[in-house]
Amino acid sequence: MRFDVFTLFPEFFASPLDSSILKRARGAGALEVAVHDIRAGALDKHRSADDYPFGGGAGMVMKAEPLVQVLGAVLKWEFGPHELPRNPPCPIVLMSPQGQPLSARLARELAQSSRIALVCAHYEGLDERAAELMTHEVSIGDYVLTGGETAALVVMDAVARFVPGVLGNEASAGGDSFEDGLLEAPHFTRPSTWRGLEVPSVLVSGDHARVARWKRQQSLVRTRARRPDLLSRVELSAADLKLLAEADAASADAASANAASEADGN
Ligand code: 6GU
Repeated sequence: MRFDVFTLFPEFFASPLDSSILKRARGAGALEVAVHDIRAGALDKHRSADDYPFGGGAGMVMKAEPLVQVLGAVLKWEFGPHELPRNPPCPIVLMSPQGQPLSARLARELAQSSRIALVCAHYEGLDERAAELMTHEVSIGDYVLTGGETAALVVMDAVARFVPGVLGNEASAGGDSFEDGLLEAPHFTRPSTWRGLEVPSVLVSGDHARVARWKRQQSLVRTRARRPDLLSRVELSAADLKLLAEADAASADAASANAASEADGN
């Protein structure tokens, strides 16, 4: 899979793409990333990529033509000098707080493409006439960033995880949080006793069926407590409902045992 990133700040991407799993994936040839300077498409003598907003208002707006010039050259997207570009040769994703929210589903869908262009808007945004030429407009959350670069990194990371050969273990993207609409169960590693804290005994029992049951129960309890919005969108089985009821009964027992021991003066 290949990402072409279009930005006014190409240097921004050097270190994040050269670390950890994205670095390894690039080394292994599973992922290719090319970063392009939008200013290279600015043809006037000042090489300006932004200008004042029509109608007034704060800040600057990214011009349409420099971006379209660079997109055309890099993607071999053919259009005449006075023509509106049509039929983009690959998905072109504009990073913008006005876009559709990034989700595991969208990341998985984008990972089906062999090539994706990511456009990082800056200043107050991109001239809307150019924005409308893009195939996607994506936001990474309800807050405003200083530019689309950090968001583009987030999209590349989330999408890359679904590309074969990027994660060490092909199965790993599947069991993650959000893949089945639930948060994951908590994780523990050695030592089994750390500063007086034990790991849950079921995890060292060697009983795989009990472990699987416990993990599902933890997922359900966590999602209900932390992200009830997610839980309401998941269809729970009778077994799931039983796991939740069991967890509630166990915590009610624990609470009354606590109350009893406090009443005893312990
Ligand atoms: Cl994609 N860009 C900017 N500038 N701000 C954002 C965003 C993107 N997603 C959330 N906030």
